[in-house]
Amino acid sequence: MAQEVQGVVSRAKGEPVELTTIVVPDPGPGEAIIDIQACGVCHTDLHYKVGAINDDFPFLLGHEAAGVVESVGEGVTDVTPGDFVILNWRAPCGDCRACRRGRPWHCFGSLNAEQPMTLKDGTPLTPALGIGAFAEKTLVAAGQAVPVNDGAPPDAAGLLGCGVMAGIGAAIHTGNVVPGDSVAVFGCGGVGDAAILGAQLAGATTIIGVDLDDRKLEWAKDFGATHTVNASSSDPVEVIKELTNGFGVDVAIEAVGHPDVMKQAFFSRDLAGTLVQVGVPDPAMTVELPMIEFFGRGGELKPSWYGDCLPTRDFPMLIDLYLQGRLDLDRFVSERIKLDEIEDAFGKMEKGDVLRSVVVFE
Ligand SMILES: NC(=O)c1ccc[n+]([C@@H]2O[C@H](COP(=O)([O-])OP(=O)(O)OC[C@H]3O[C@@H](n4cnc5c(N)ncnc54)[C@H](O)[C@@H]3O)[C@@H](O)[C@H]2O)c1
Ligand SMILES: [Zn+2]
Ligand SMILES: [Zn+2]
Repeated sequence: MAQEVQGVVSRAKGEPVELTTIVVPDPGPGEAIIDIQACGVCHTDLHYKVGAINDDFPFLLGHEAAGVVESVGEGVTDVTPGDFVILNWRAPCGDCRACRRGRPWHCFGSLNAEQPMTLKDGTPLTPALGIGAFAEKTLVAAGQAVPVNDGAPPDAAGLLGCGVMAGIGAAIHTGNVVPGDSVAVFGCGGVGDAAILGAQLAGATTIIGVDLDDRKLEWAKDFGATHTVNASSSDPVEVIKELTNGFGVDVAIEAVGHPDVMKQAFFSRDLAGTLVQVGVPDPAMTVELPMIEFFGRGGELKPSWYGDCLPTRDFPMLIDLYLQGRLDLDRFVSERIKLDEIEDAFGKMEKGDVLRSVVVFE
């Protein structure tokens, strides 16, 4: 029997989101229904709402979530009802070229539920990042649900499902930060602060947070930044050189998604340093660089999709570190809100008042 639950839908470009009844079908082969316990409000949800991702309205928003498996469809063996899981948007298909050559974190055929969830009138919904977790229950491909130690609270755990994983992974997987490295992180929002945490976890000894907002820079220190630079009053490239004996950093992580910031990150590296681009650009943005600077400085320029994570490998590992007190995920949770408060949470995000508002389901 299909179930009717409450969910947050974005019906048209730029319109306020709406709490409404949605229909969740029984899980088909390879699918699972998840009882959502918590779901963070990510910048990407706002991108969907303003039409910056695509025009496949209506969207069922929400994608940084943790919950409990309610039921599974035919052939599902990796999760069973009752499992505490974190949802992900990288469930490797096992069949594409990337998967077949042993690089499942590059999978381009990531699995999603085959059946649509719908509005009551039957209109199919497009779930954000194939998840749609601003809802009491959601339908996903079973591979999108990764069981983790249920000792972790859902509000903090769910954040690993997107932004926090992207940031940590940008440092430890894409940037390959190693002990003793110097790292600069441009943009100290949820993703940037997670990159700072990841750099610290990997043993970086100099971690420089760059932002335009002094409050963000204070928070960045709490996550492990050893130095901070306000780029609205000083030139971050110059300050980063000064802080690294004139060399520049080993790894510069761009977590804003702006060409000017990407250039600052590019020039703030030491020779043979790595630039990691984790901020998502607008499709119209372009970057121009003297080619001799690209060649002459050496090193690597690396985009980071979802922090090059592999959820089945990384989620349980990071939750274990959290439970051992070695990874502070609670600090990302600025406030706990209800399902009808998401529009307000977007406003707070835009003003920079929060790192993450997290919807908690009773
Ligand atoms: N690559 C991925 O897989 C992935 C995953 C999730 C999010 N993202 C992207 O990462 C980016 C950051 O996400 P977030 O949730 O942390 O957003 P956020 O809005 O919380 O943080 C952005 C931060 O950048 C700062 N900033 C803005 N302009 C700046 C500038 N010129 N110089 C320095 N700092 C500046 C802001 O003050 C803010 O603190 C977004 O583009 C988001 O879409 C990427
Ligand atoms: Zn694949
Ligand atoms: Zn996200």
